[in-house]
Amino acid sequence: EKGGYDHFMLKEIHEQPEAIFDTFRGRLLSNEAMIKLAGVEDNMKKFLAADRIIVVACGTSWHAGLVSEYIFEDLARIPVEVEYASEFRYRNPVITEKDIVIAISQSGETADTLAAIKLAKSKGAFVFGVCNVVGSSIARETDAGAYTHAGPEIGVASTKAFTTQITVLTLMALRLARAKGTLSSSEFRHHLIELETIPSKVEEALKSDAYVQTVADIYKYATNFLYLGRGFNFPVALEGALKLKEISYIHAEGYPAAEMKHGPIALIDEQMPVVVIATKKGHYEKVVSNIQEIKSRKGKIIGIVTKGDVSVKELADHVIEVPETLECLTPLLTTIPLQLLSYHIAVMLDKNVDQPRNLAKSVTVE
Ligand code: F6R
Repeated sequence: EKGGYDHFMLKEIHEQPEAIFDTFRGRLLSNEAMIKLAGVEDNMKKFLAADRIIVVACGTSWHAGLVSEYIFEDLARIPVEVEYASEFRYRNPVITEKDIVIAISQSGETADTLAAIKLAKSKGAFVFGVCNVVGSSIARETDAGAYTHAGPEIGVASTKAFTTQITVLTLMALRLARAKGTLSSSEFRHHLIELETIPSKVEEALKSDAYVQTVADIYKYATNFLYLGRGFNFPVALEGALKLKEISYIHAEGYPAAEMKHGPIALIDEQMPVVVIATKKGHYEKVVSNIQEIKSRKGKIIGIVTKGDVSVKELADHVIEVPETLECLTPLLTTIPLQLLSYHIAVMLDKNVDQPRNLAKSVTVE
């Protein structure tokens, strides 16, 4: 059932090229320059009239929501707020009929997310679900939705659910961008063509596995890790840190790279591995100067870079390459080595990768 892999998590990491393909199959029609998402199409008026989108989710799904904030705002120019479902539901939030709430959940059973949906509906908002499990409570409770079609995710640490959630949300943003005219038809077409190449680029990113293992071996006894990223890749830094925490039990924190000098830089010494997402285009020069700041404090730098990178290579202790793509699609690639890094460290530390202590696959109690 693990398809020859030692753990479900590793199997699911390797399933991502196919899972992402399944997510856009029949929806991304690049020849016709179209995106078809029934749940969006049927409610286009509501989407176009919306003042803003509020995303509610927990954990990894919340991180996918944060990535979508950058994508929706950049491509479709719709203001987005991303909320922890558990905070939103108890905050007496301001919600109106002109709001669209997107609930993101792999399991479709997360108690806080479900309660947030019920609250939003009671205030008249239109609620759209992005779920993986077909027929789940959240899928049923929402007014419309789009499934991720990632297939069953068994490992407690979410991997392919995350990248397929980002894929669905990107399709939505692109469809709305086209309807609103915030992308020209040639830009739109270019995005579709690039998105179509992502499965093969994920495949290529997975080839860093052997090198990631050597990096994992060097840092497996570290007691703290920092993960830094900017823009579209800031949420990926948060997700990388969460993956490491939950399966290896190593303390890790994700930060927007520029926030480092407002506090966390005090933590950096020669014991501290710092994973920095430094792909080209994504504020590259600024991230390079953040890397210099870490280096001058003797931190150990693991850079996630675009293939062919030169500047980060000169500064970093290790670099892991991912293929080049459009900036807004980079999270789908930069996530891959971070999943592999946490996986290998957890295996080397002999932790229960698929069922980490204290965690459950779906959190049906608040
Ligand atoms: C992390 C993880 C959790 C879930 C969270 C939400 O790897 O699995 O953080 O992402 O419990 O779960 P869903 O997406 O099922 O609502």
